[in-house]
Amino acid sequence: MCGIVGYIGKKKASPILIDGLLKLEYRGYDSSGISTVENGYLSNMKDKGRVKNLYDLDGINDLNGTIGIAHTRWATHGKPCKENSHPHMDNEKCFSVVHNGIIENYQDLRDFLIGKGYKFLSETDTETIPNLIHYYYNKDENSNEGRFLRAVNSACKDVKGSYAIEVICKDYPNKMIIARKDSPLVVGVNQDEYYVASDIPAILSYTKNFYLLDDGDIVELQKNSISFYNMNLEKIQKDLKNIEWDATSSEKAGYPDYMLKEIYEQPRSIRETIGTRLKQGEKVNFSDINISKDYLKNIDKIYLVACGTAMHAGLSAQPLFEKLCKIPVTVDIASEFRYREPLIDDKTLCIFISQSGETADTIAALKLVKLNGAKTIAISNVINSSITREADFTIYTHAGPEIAVASTKAYTSQVTLLALLGIHFAEVLESSDASEINNIKNELLLLPEKIQDILKDVTQIKEFAKKVYTEHDIFFIGRGTDYTTAKEASLKLKEISYIHSDAYAAGELKHGPIALIENGVTVVGIVTDAKLACKTISNLQEVITRGAKTFIITNQDLEKGNYDKVIRIPNTHPMISPILSVIPLQLFAYYISKEKGLDVDKPRNLAKSVTVE
Ligand code: G6P
Repeated sequence: MCGIVGYIGKKKASPILIDGLLKLEYRGYDSSGISTVENGYLSNMKDKGRVKNLYDLDGINDLNGTIGIAHTRWATHGKPCKENSHPHMDNEKCFSVVHNGIIENYQDLRDFLIGKGYKFLSETDTETIPNLIHYYYNKDENSNEGRFLRAVNSACKDVKGSYAIEVICKDYPNKMIIARKDSPLVVGVNQDEYYVASDIPAILSYTKNFYLLDDGDIVELQKNSISFYNMNLEKIQKDLKNIEWDATSSEKAGYPDYMLKEIYEQPRSIRETIGTRLKQGEKVNFSDINISKDYLKNIDKIYLVACGTAMHAGLSAQPLFEKLCKIPVTVDIASEFRYREPLIDDKTLCIFISQSGETADTIAALKLVKLNGAKTIAISNVINSSITREADFTIYTHAGPEIAVASTKAYTSQVTLLALLGIHFAEVLESSDASEINNIKNELLLLPEKIQDILKDVTQIKEFAKKVYTEHDIFFIGRGTDYTTAKEASLKLKEISYIHSDAYAAGELKHGPIALIENGVTVVGIVTDAKLACKTISNLQEVITRGAKTFIITNQDLEKGNYDKVIRIPNTHPMISPILSVIPLQLFAYYISKEKGLDVDKPRNLAKSVTVE
């Protein structure tokens, strides 16, 4: 979704800003723009479309200002067009503002400002901010150094909703004010210069030292000083943090797309997720979260709550938790969970899964749960993301930066981490047979090698993708954990190929979906659980009889069947098999998208991190 970059220092700001925006492209956006201060004048260049379009704007190379703000917009209020793009300015062109988030009371603020004579040029909620700042700035009779800061602070106090903002002012050519509430913002520090961004990867190539802002923080940046304030404009202190992410891990490293790179990174990312939590012959280690046996014995249910792919990770882990811990587990879509008045009390444990840690519905669901007295655990891939600040405990997937919009390595790391957590609870509770637990633990340790095996030769997957890429509907079926893989595989295909697809529990086929099967329709079958294999095989025969083409992902001996293509994957414990079976299907979606000539990493209308509800 929307991305923010800012610079204040001695260098020309515009190339740094555009470079940062390019690094944020993966978040998904529809327009972009930049604004700098120079000689008491604010430039403002923006347009709809890709960041590279900014290079075509007349005069962009002549922007020599050393302070600037920049933005990629993902439309919420008003269509993608130049007028609605950020930065936005007040009527007198005194302030320039970029904003991530949503101003919920923007209509009231707009009416108020219109009443004071202000005019609006865009349909956005954001345009209220520069005008509100201007309103307070003009009202302030004390025209000293603090006037700019006070005006921004007053405007922030009036805003209901979420914001991360950067503001520059033509009267203060050496200053930038930034602020955040419920939308991430960081400041990167170098000698006599500051970099601002909504996401660390945008500025990671310039510095590894960051201030991570908290809700309600307002920051005044000058070329050689930084001051932090709370909403009462009292000075506060912040710690500088060293972020050990490798800048090259957010580059493509020779792969044509981030998605392919991230698929191939999975042996490594799973290894990182397992880290020191699991060692041969030892109990799983979660000493970083303080969950006691007494607490676990006392809880009567667990909710796994998330959106999109992260929710599928929850679905994949549900059987393992229930079987090993003997506690009922419900998996919920965050945007449904928060409005359905779920039964929550101090006997409920809620686990929230979010790659980005910024998904608005997941965060709101977490806040709701806390009000009702439940304990919360966040599973996130992004250090210090918003969700990790709200939860009682956080565990990180450590999959490394995931840039492609369609999630791959974050998903397999989430499933791995959830499996480890389920085993940990079972070990604490002593609720399950040690031999079964040990079997899963051994299989977890073998996953990186087995993934490597799958990735060795992908020609068959590529060939089948070539055969079916022009189709309009593709169905995925499976039973047990294979059904959850079917759901994730179907989502992956939709996201990046724009082919309609659906996933069904194989046993449900006869209750409706089989009516859609006709000559030539493709059905993908996932068959990895020996106990359920013969049942799914029967369902596959039913669709073959009706003319379907079949693409099978299996660890069973199915090669001799009448299937169009069988992809053999290594065997593992059925409870963690989604971690292996999803990989050929991530590649299947990838190659279909490539055959169609689509932008794999930035599919239309989608965003990497959905920060609006
Ligand atoms: C968006 C992304 C998906 C992701 C979902 C949840 O839809 O495109 O890839 O699964 O949000 O994101 P989260 O960051 O909370 O895991």
